Amino acid sequence: MTKIAVAKGDGIGPEIMDAVLNIFRAAEVPLEYEFVDMGKWVFDKGYSNGMTPEAQRSIETLGILFKGPMETPKGKGVKSVNVTARKTWNTYANKRVFQTLHGVDTVFSKAGIPVDITVVRENIEDTYGGIEHMLTHDVALSRRFITRPGSLQVIKYAFEMAKKKGARRITCGHKANIMKITDGLFLDVFNEVAKEYPELKADDVIVDDLCMKLVTRPDLFDVVVLTNLQGDIVSDLCAGLVGGLGFAPSANIGDHICIFEAVHGTAPDIAGKNVANPTALLLSGIGMLRHLGLMKGAALIENALLYTLEQGVHTGDFGDKTKASVNTTAFAEAVIGNFGKTPGLGAKPMLPDMPTTQTHFKLEKNPMLESVEMENEKIVGVDFFIESNEQPITIANKCMRHAGVKFKLVNISNRGTQVWPTGSVYTNLVNQYNVRFESIDDFPLNQQDVLGLYVSMSGNFKICSSELLLMWGDKKAYSLAQGQ
Ligand code: NAI
Repeated sequence: MTKIAVAKGDGIGPEIMDAVLNIFRAAEVPLEYEFVDMGKWVFDKGYSNGMTPEAQRSIETLGILFKGPMETPKGKGVKSVNVTARKTWNTYANKRVFQTLHGVDTVFSKAGIPVDITVVRENIEDTYGGIEHMLTHDVALSRRFITRPGSLQVIKYAFEMAKKKGARRITCGHKANIMKITDGLFLDVFNEVAKEYPELKADDVIVDDLCMKLVTRPDLFDVVVLTNLQGDIVSDLCAGLVGGLGFAPSANIGDHICIFEAVHGTAPDIAGKNVANPTALLLSGIGMLRHLGLMKGAALIENALLYTLEQGVHTGDFGDKTKASVNTTAFAEAVIGNFGKTPGLGAKPMLPDMPTTQTHFKLEKNPMLESVEMENEKIVGVDFFIESNEQPITIANKCMRHAGVKFKLVNISNRGTQVWPTGSVYTNLVNQYNVRFESIDDFPLNQQDVLGLYVSMSGNFKICSSELLLMWGDKKAYSLAQGQ
């Protein structure tokens, strides 16, 4: 018997979780449940991370959390319990499976185009670090972290999963044509890992093109791996391809703790009425059973669910409106009543997923801190992000006075577009510039040189932020301004 932690959550959470657990019990899946206190209601009791210390301990001991949706009030500075959980336990890969379900009509199902796409989204990094500052009253800056070890973790998971599933194709979605350093790093790691899996067809598609292709020929895609924000958007797009959020399961995969949940939220508009659709949570639960190696129970329940949907049984949010809908409890009972039935023509075969052994232990050392030794790293300059409402030429004249004997002013940009030494009078300016200094004649610089310039510049300007310009060998570790 495997023991897992279960958090029912807020809103419709308890209703749909009870429905799913009833199905599990009826199928006699060998699971034991430890119910833990987690959600907005726990936050309201004074637990700032939305869970009790006992809940956290249980989840960390058991390694598996099956959770209902949890409410995040808008504004008010309340952090999402869902995001806190994903970050706290480093569930670095968000896996969402989107497949055609018979009985759930979509434009593609009507056209006979099958959809079976697995989106793997990086779950920790990117703009989701939420590291944001107002540089001036007019200018906000978000820091976007993409790291090599973070990208490696999620991309390796995606390839391994694609291999086990016998995927036709694995695609990296990205915007490396614009974000050459951040998305460029993610794409480089994808290409490096791809070499270890020559049996898989690996390719990359720019994310805007990917969206267009997904809505025109979704059947051409199988596994798609993306950075966090792009993955967030693309996975909701894919949910739309198969009938909406009511049919979108999600697994947050980490090396030690995994969280299984539906993609949708707490649906406050229908909470407490026993009318919510439990399908997405049930599909997440089926994914969890496969993850735990409980293939028999997973197949029994999935076949019964697909059969039930094919029969036209539906809750109020989907299906044939000319047929009466059933409530949450009755939907679960219909699935239980269909145990042993198999879905008809075109039903998805019950392929085993990626069974993993449960590993849960405290990290003694953080493996992600071990990184490649930087070879031939040198400081070649500095970017100062300054506040100013003066014209570029005036700023340039002031900056040049500070350059001294080690630095030269190379260029000035505004919102990423070069405005000095050359530029266009048509470029709109905001009150925050990036002034770039580089060393004269490749003079070797150190941090003290940069700090000296910082102190000198600060006599004339408010410096909002700064970045070192580094080179590794002959490779620049920074981007050029548009037009530079
Ligand atoms: P929502 O997904 O809760 O609801 C959007 C619409 O879909 C509503 O009309 C709702 O009735 C319907 N809906 C959602 N799930 C349904 C189901 N199973 N059956 C039938 N209809 C369903 O999104 P919303 O309203 O933006 O968010 C409500 C709350 O949920 C917020 O506090 C939000 O932060 C939280 N949330 C939590 C998530 C999680 O726990 N992972 C994910 C998304 C939102």
